[in-house]
Amino acid sequence: MSQLQIRNIGQLFVGKGQVLTGQALAIDHGRVSYLGAEGGLTARGDVIDAGGGLVSPGLVDAHTHLVFAGDRADEFAQRCAGATYLEIAQKGGGILSTVRATQLASEKELVELALPRLAALLAQGVTTAEVKSGYGLTVDDELKMLRVIRRLQGLQPISLVPTLLALHAVPQGVDRSAWVRTVLTELLPRVAQDKLAVFCDVFVEQSAFTADEAREVLRAARALGLLPRLHVDQLTPGKGAELAAELSAVTADHLEHASDAGMRALGAAGTVAVLAPISTLYLRQRPFANGRKLRDAGVSVALCTNCNPGSAMTENVALAMGLACLECGLTPLEALEAFTGNAAHALRVQHAGHLRLGDPADVVIFKAKSPAHLVWHLGQSEVRAVLKAGKLVHGG
Ligand code: NIG
Repeated sequence: MSQLQIRNIGQLFVGKGQVLTGQALAIDHGRVSYLGAEGGLTARGDVIDAGGGLVSPGLVDAHTHLVFAGDRADEFAQRCAGATYLEIAQKGGGILSTVRATQLASEKELVELALPRLAALLAQGVTTAEVKSGYGLTVDDELKMLRVIRRLQGLQPISLVPTLLALHAVPQGVDRSAWVRTVLTELLPRVAQDKLAVFCDVFVEQSAFTADEAREVLRAARALGLLPRLHVDQLTPGKGAELAAELSAVTADHLEHASDAGMRALGAAGTVAVLAPISTLYLRQRPFANGRKLRDAGVSVALCTNCNPGSAMTENVALAMGLACLECGLTPLEALEAFTGNAAHALRVQHAGHLRLGDPADVVIFKAKSPAHLVWHLGQSEVRAVLKAGKLVHGG
């Protein structure tokens, strides 16, 4: 029997701020085939009892760097003693430390290191995630990272959206403009030809790349069919939100230091803001990104774990949601929307982030009764079960 029913749902979040009660779901051949009153369900197929919990679309993690090798626990300790992320980077640590370890690792090793991170995300309810390169920083090593992401797609249930982030840091011992040229002339064409990435991303920051370098690379990437996105205004104010709007970037990520004018520009451009509050906490930075102001400026706000070894060594979606409420000014329902529909929009994935008839049934069943209960139990996963395309892939 290929039908599956989810009964005894407390609140059903279907997307776009809509929370329904008294509803049940049926799934046929992996797709939502019924969404309506529980009394209207015919009794056939297997039944999952949601126990009166909240049910939502599978969560979407809009920004991760979860393919990497190496260890940066020492940097955490250095920051606790007062060093900043930028100071650690200036001394050759930070991203470049992970680049050294990732260059030395084989594809197989990188796959094995990434699988438990994906399993941890799945246990948090994530059924779609973006994953970036950016720790290769040579043509071969960036391609290696993107091939690892492709291999991971076949080895576990989460749908992966790959991003080329060749402009993540200036490679050690390499002239910065030479690296930008190599990316433009060698790497981008190969990535486009082999369809290894959907997005091209650039880290615009004092310690990384300039707005002009981002313009050049993202325009070339777009011409080759890769969609633009940006890490901006994370550590210092740099008019990054304005840049993302100017380039009609699909997303502008981080935005702790975005200006009011930049936020309005993002709203006008339709660029999605992807906030990473765990990183703000983890790097002991202030302020947090102002999610409230962004939403008020008409910006669609998405959230992410930003799972990576430097600024967010965690897969904790629940913590990201809680911080988004406590520090970025989102309501619990907005935080859930930021991890579902808005994140799916950020990744240009059409059939995720909402529950509609005919959609692939990516579903999370929570123990929590409501969005408020999700964040109330701060940093704790309230996930009871996860379905990917109608198949039970976590819990039960
Ligand atoms: O999104 N800001 C740049 N990239 C990551 C951190 C990467 C690292 O430190 O390894 C981020 O926070």
